[in-house]
Amino acid sequence: MTPVSDPLFETPHLIVRPFRPADAQRLYEYHLDENVKHWFPNESYEDLAEAEDAIGFFLDCVSHDRLPYVLAVEFKETGELIGDTGVSEVEGHPDEVEIGYVISDAYTGKGYATELASAMNAFVFAKFGLQRVCGRVLHGNDASVRVLEKSGFSFLQEEMGAEDDPYGNGMLVYVCDRLGNLFLEMHPGFFRRDYVKRVSEEEPASEMLLDLREFDPAVYEKSLPDNVSFGFYDGPLDALIKAVDVVMPHWVPFFSEDSRVYCGFVDGEIASFCMIEDFGEHVVDASGSDPHAAPLSRIGGPGCVGTVPAYRDRGIGLTMIRNVTQLLREEGYDFSHIHYTYETAWYGKLGYRTFLTWSGRGVREVQAL
Ligand SMILES: CC(C)(COP(=O)(O)OP(=O)(O)OC[C@H]1O[C@@H](n2cnc3c(N)ncnc32)[C@H](O)[C@@H]1OP(=O)(O)O)[C@@H](O)C(=O)NCCC(=O)NCCS
Repeated sequence: MTPVSDPLFETPHLIVRPFRPADAQRLYEYHLDENVKHWFPNESYEDLAEAEDAIGFFLDCVSHDRLPYVLAVEFKETGELIGDTGVSEVEGHPDEVEIGYVISDAYTGKGYATELASAMNAFVFAKFGLQRVCGRVLHGNDASVRVLEKSGFSFLQEEMGAEDDPYGNGMLVYVCDRLGNLFLEMHPGFFRRDYVKRVSEEEPASEMLLDLREFDPAVYEKSLPDNVSFGFYDGPLDALIKAVDVVMPHWVPFFSEDSRVYCGFVDGEIASFCMIEDFGEHVVDASGSDPHAAPLSRIGGPGCVGTVPAYRDRGIGLTMIRNVTQLLREEGYDFSHIHYTYETAWYGKLGYRTFLTWSGRGVREVQAL
């Protein structure tokens, strides 16, 4: 039995912790809320005693790191118990779990379920060394579908005739693979941003990765004239801002004196620019023999990549990205990541591969690398 810390994790508005015996009354009550009862009709408790028994069982499982692993959700501001979340076994798939979450009626419609599901997902991926988390939603529960989409899940299939489908209308099965979770770990709260919400479903954006252990800079060799050079930018900020403004005015606020900027120059003038970013250490691949000891990979990458129009199509931009990719490798990074791009063919020339596409609604598709 492992000692369980209390709380286990937090989100901006919520605290997630093991249940306590004193939670029984609230647990019993909110499972009778109209919405909760409608979407989880099999999860209401007969009486207070049954809720108490359930808490005893949840606590026992949590303290033994066993499934179902069910936790209490507290509203930070007031300390009130407002819901629960848990993961349970998926029969025949030991490296997969099914996620569940409940928010009491008075607290719905405020984005708390998305906060909860995203954080719980990341927590269980790390804790149980999983390859996949799935979510099953009753047909018609659109709010819950949105929660999953914004938490890194993408639609897998419809399931008819499931034992736990109370109305017989079918269930929608969503899955989040490790790479879907990785994306939200690197970009927390991504789908809450307004500029992200505006990305249309017809034109989904891509996320790419390149395994630096496999990178060969010779993959792209362009002979460039002698007046073209490359290097870190240490010139005046206003000259850099001018170049960024010509390419993508809305990137200007991202550049400051502290940014690590690498450029391609023509006669010393900025032709191409990018910012070298650090995305932290994450588990990219947990398929090794011990999923609980999956290695952490260092991830960096070029962001806000642009070439001033007058210097385009000369191979300067891509040579710059090639150099930055090699630099990241020399600095000890394991992966290079391209975030929010439509230029997949361009980066593809260097060996970058799309691992996820998304729109303002959420994740569209996750692909193995
Ligand atoms: C995308 C962008 C950076 C390309 O810069 P660039 O300096 O013109 O690119 P390069 O000249 O180095 O391109 C090199 C090669 O890619 C090809 N290429 C150029 N744009 C391409 C594209 N959109 N898709 C596929 N290939 C492309 C070129 O034909 C060239 O091929 P070759 O060397 O095999 O003959 C530039 O168009 C730009 O600044 N766009 C606006 C900002 C943007 O969208 N940035 C990407 C954000 S993630």
